[in-house]
Amino acid sequence: MSIVSASPRELAINGGMPVRSSFLPYGHQSIDETDIQAVVDVLRSDWLTTGPKVGEFEEAFAGRVGAAHAVSFSSGTAALHGAAFAAGLKAGDEAITTPMTFAATANCVLYQGAKPVFADVSWDTLNIDPEQLAGKISSKTRAVLPVDYAGHPADLGTILALAKERGLVVIEDACHALGAEYRGRPVGSIADMTVFSFHPVKHITTGEGGMVSTNDPKLAEALRRFRNHGISTDARQRQSAGQWHYEMVALGFNYRLPDFACALGISQLTKLDSNLARRREIAAQYAAAFRDVPVVVPPAIRADVLPAWHLYPIRLNLGQLTADRGTIFRALRAENIGVNVHYIPVHLHPYYREQFGYKGGEFPVAEDAYSRLISLPMFHGMIDQDVVDVISAVKKVTGFYSR
Ligand SMILES: Cc1ncc(COP(=O)(O)O)c(C=O)c1O
Repeated sequence: MSIVSASPRELAINGGMPVRSSFLPYGHQSIDETDIQAVVDVLRSDWLTTGPKVGEFEEAFAGRVGAAHAVSFSSGTAALHGAAFAAGLKAGDEAITTPMTFAATANCVLYQGAKPVFADVSWDTLNIDPEQLAGKISSKTRAVLPVDYAGHPADLGTILALAKERGLVVIEDACHALGAEYRGRPVGSIADMTVFSFHPVKHITTGEGGMVSTNDPKLAEALRRFRNHGISTDARQRQSAGQWHYEMVALGFNYRLPDFACALGISQLTKLDSNLARRREIAAQYAAAFRDVPVVVPPAIRADVLPAWHLYPIRLNLGQLTADRGTIFRALRAENIGVNVHYIPVHLHPYYREQFGYKGGEFPVAEDAYSRLISLPMFHGMIDQDVVDVISAVKKVTGFYSR
């Protein structure tokens, strides 16, 4: 519900009336009756863990992203770990990624005993800068992990060419980018392995959940084993073959996505196109509204991509504002707009500072962006009034603090 009053209005943080009476989160799942029924049907079936819905979901997903194989995992983080394993990362190796991401992208390298190395981002997209990446390649580098920040595909053509030349595996972290396209091709069909997340704020959800897509059957097999303790068959395969024998051939984990979660995934996947369309509509409305707000820099879109809009991160022109990002953030929250910040650059987290001696200043583009970033609400369930409220609150707050 919105309570829009005439401008100029007193900020809610200063005791004024908020733009809306109820809190609008930055992201939220949409679950309908068909989703619920799909889960209930599986709950009444014989298989709660790896049953028929797992393969069905994987096949439908692979088809949607244009890949030959898709392997489900219990989370995007587990899927990243699987990809780091399948890429053969081990102690003594290095893998290059971006600091402008969720910690899981770099952590998966550490899980394998290898070292994450960061390369700074490009100013426009905040995706890994291929030139910076090239400068970080050493004799120990085995893999690169570009991230499709906010749903805008990384510079995959340049990165893949570089990786091919230097013999590196490309693990694309597309946890933000299900449904995005790069040069007319769907994300998921391009890199050696592409990783997705089905966390509730993403384009489709299974509660927790993740997927790796690949065109390489050997990588797919390695991923399947890794998520099942490193064992070559699953319980259902053994039951139908009347077999008790199995072999553990690698050190794996239990990273399986349950059958009822896969049933939810299948049902959610049928709504992906409409979810993407709604997100693109919201992004276009934001971009149009902020054209005449000079203190707000909307996210860039390169000519050769179709973004998936997981996030809508604006950057503030702090030089034209009398307040810092923290004050603007709190003022927007007081207006009941659930803004967020993506991301604290990974190398600035205490764990990475302590383990690797980062002090700040190493990645100036990512660090400068961090000081200006605010993610506005962006999810496919937003109604028109929600979008109007966000725009109105951003104009109200930035107008108040503009020089
Ligand atoms: C870029 C990125 N990578 C990895 C992950 C991890 O995914 P999950 O939360 O499904 O483990 C996330 C989660 O939000 C993410 O944003």
